Amino acid sequence: MKTIPEHVAIIMDGNGRWGKLHGRSRSEGHYAGSKTMEELIDASADIGIRILTLYAFSTENWKRPAEEVNYLMSLPVKFFNQKLPEFMKRNIKILISGDIENLPNKTRNVVIKAMNETKNNTGLIVNFALNYSGRNEIRQATIQIIKDVKENKISIDQLDEKMLENYLYTRNLPDPDIVIRTGGEKRISNFLMWQSAMSQLCFVDELFPDFKQPLYIKALERVQQGDGASVSLIQRM
Ligand code: FPP
Repeated sequence: MKTIPEHVAIIMDGNGRWGKLHGRSRSEGHYAGSKTMEELIDASADIGIRILTLYAFSTENWKRPAEEVNYLMSLPVKFFNQKLPEFMKRNIKILISGDIENLPNKTRNVVIKAMNETKNNTGLIVNFALNYSGRNEIRQATIQIIKDVKENKISIDQLDEKMLENYLYTRNLPDPDIVIRTGGEKRISNFLMWQSAMSQLCFVDELFPDFKQPLYIKALERVQQGDGASVSLIQRM
């Protein structure tokens, strides 16, 4: 790899289809996806990427069948209880972008614990977009800005792009250099609407559970070789 991207963001799509393809449930597809996710976290730390943002649950995902939603909400509980000691050892810091308040108690508690315990770690930042919506993020920012103007905490003349960014979930994080979407669909789906304005986009046909480390590295390399093109397509072989 010529240069290491600072911030990579991934839309982890295709878990449900993967489950079906392998004669299993959608939830089993999500479990397989969570295993791939662990592999990509390791790979990102090894490569020296500074921030990895993972789209784990969108506000639109609440519309899915209750069984699937419950499973997706239980995954972080299992995941962080198991992985936190390792994240501490590897100096990995956990952040959450999204509406944490409206998560089920168990899920909220475990992600808050993960953020607290890892807050002084200085290695890879893994930023989970959880109960996330890009439009809602901008809406929340707008509401807070109006409140702060009314309370004379800021003046409208001060409000440049940098200041607005301080009201987003991703405050203090640089924009993603690359947004990768697996699963063949070529759209952004309300992910990092503001932050991805200048990002390179990479669409991969492979379903997320199959997007293992070698393919991840290949995708990152392909984006870099892309002679300045802002979109790369990686077709299934
Ligand atoms: C989209 O695939 C994927 C999701 C809605 C969930 C992604 C979550 C993980 C990979 C694991 C998260 C784990 C933790 C611990 C945060 P889809 O179901 O829309 O796939 P489809 O397009 O095939 O239906």
